[in-house]
Amino acid sequence: LVIVIDFGGQYNQLVARRVRECNVYCEIYSYRTELEKIKAMNPRGIILTGGPSSCYEEGAASCSPELFDLGIPVLGLCYGAQLMMHTLGGEVARAAMQEYGKTEVDVDTTSELFADVAPHTICWMSHFDYIARMAPDFRRVAVTANCPVAAAECPERKLYAIQFHPEVLHTAEGSKMLYNFVRNICGCGGDWRMDAFVEESVRAIRTKVGDGKVLCALSGGVDSSVAAVLLSRAVGRQLTCVFVDHGLLRKNEGDEVEAVFGPEGEYDLNFIRVNAQERFYDKLAGVSEPEKKRKIIGEEFIRVFEEEAEKIGAVDFLVQGTIYPDVVESGLGGESAVIKSHHNVGGLPDYVDFKEIIEPLKSLFKDEVRKVGLELGIPEHLVFRQPFPGPGLGVRIVGEVTAEKVKMVQDADAIYREEIAEAGLDRELNQYFAALTNMRSVGVMGDERTYDYAVALRAVNTVDFMTAEAAEIPWDVLKKVMSRIINEVNGVNRVLYDVSSKPPGTIEFE
Ligand code: XMP
Repeated sequence: LVIVIDFGGQYNQLVARRVRECNVYCEIYSYRTELEKIKAMNPRGIILTGGPSSCYEEGAASCSPELFDLGIPVLGLCYGAQLMMHTLGGEVARAAMQEYGKTEVDVDTTSELFADVAPHTICWMSHFDYIARMAPDFRRVAVTANCPVAAAECPERKLYAIQFHPEVLHTAEGSKMLYNFVRNICGCGGDWRMDAFVEESVRAIRTKVGDGKVLCALSGGVDSSVAAVLLSRAVGRQLTCVFVDHGLLRKNEGDEVEAVFGPEGEYDLNFIRVNAQERFYDKLAGVSEPEKKRKIIGEEFIRVFEEEAEKIGAVDFLVQGTIYPDVVESGLGGESAVIKSHHNVGGLPDYVDFKEIIEPLKSLFKDEVRKVGLELGIPEHLVFRQPFPGPGLGVRIVGEVTAEKVKMVQDADAIYREEIAEAGLDRELNQYFAALTNMRSVGVMGDERTYDYAVALRAVNTVDFMTAEAAEIPWDVLKKVMSRIINEVNGVNRVLYDVSSKPPGTIEFE
């Protein structure tokens, strides 16, 4: 185990991730965590992250000086490096010139930290303060044009400080440096794999749940599916999954989820499918304002889930498929600033009678969750599902939602997805779907005048879903999709391709 101590820097989650990429297990704790607790976990190494404070200021985030005397290797990064120097008798001051961005660095390759690193390499710098004087017994092992101490070490005490950010990909050889620290300096075996995560999680869940009852709202999305299967593996039929089919899922999706998780599937759990399609359509009748639709769908979902939960009675635990970016973006999980509030976390469902929440995927990134999913034997079509919004097709039908429109968009979307897969583009596009506009226009089919709806196709490339570019789908693929949709989907006589980027557009239509 390596412990990452969080001082509120923006790259903290990346540090944890890079450590796991070295096949070493790690967990993130706030700098407020007591030293005793850290000692009790018996870590092989400790990494102090970056952070927004200045360590010489009153009330700045800090750690116990004893942390450096435990005999456990400690690596300080950016603020963590400055804090180490400041705490151990060095000097940190405001730099005359702040350094930001890709920077050339000269490293001393005799340092174990920089073994196999090129003597002259590129690193990512982002700091106002700098290490003006090293703490006693430290030696300088890296330097840049503006930074007299870009890295320092005291190998006798196994203390290492790096001013730049090895966790960021812009630091060309950063992963190697972190590897050197966790594998060579800390001596971590590197035998941690996702199967180890599964085993450890199963063990921890069993201990926690005992013979308690667990309830899970299963959406069929990646996160809730993986969380459910993990729980099923740990406690079998003590777990009940409630899957609400709100009638706004993609074509055949309800049946696909049931096939995997239901009685015919291979998982040991109680599965309840609630076919609430009509309820949702009734509530949505006559409503065309997007936010109102979202709200109705969200509230109705809660009502349906609540009714099912009531039938089940009191449970001990509620499972949520929260993943690390959800936690970070909500500003709940760490010391970093709130980026946006997130739909997956925060408002605890007070409508279910339960004692405690279980969030088994809380420390993982999406691609790691997918790896866990594969490890658990979940079918690939579920594991590699593209994101699908909670309100489902409700936000892909512009204007009023009706059962007929749902059918149109489901059929069009199924054709689109089929052809994208056929063209081998499905893994390369980050999100793609068909939406139904509320525009009707005149067309001609078989000598007859038509007055039908227009389907809009969307496909985007994005890294973080906060900004996105429309993808350049080959024209022949688009033409084929157009022709199939118009021929096969009743009520549609026009197909449009959405070329808007985000911003100013959003990915979804509402
Ligand atoms: P937008 O449309 O905001 O979408 O550009 C960004 C990403 O978020 C997904 N999305 C949602 N997911 N509930 C969800 O669970 C929602 O209400 C919701 N709205 C948007 C969207 O599919 C895209 O991946």
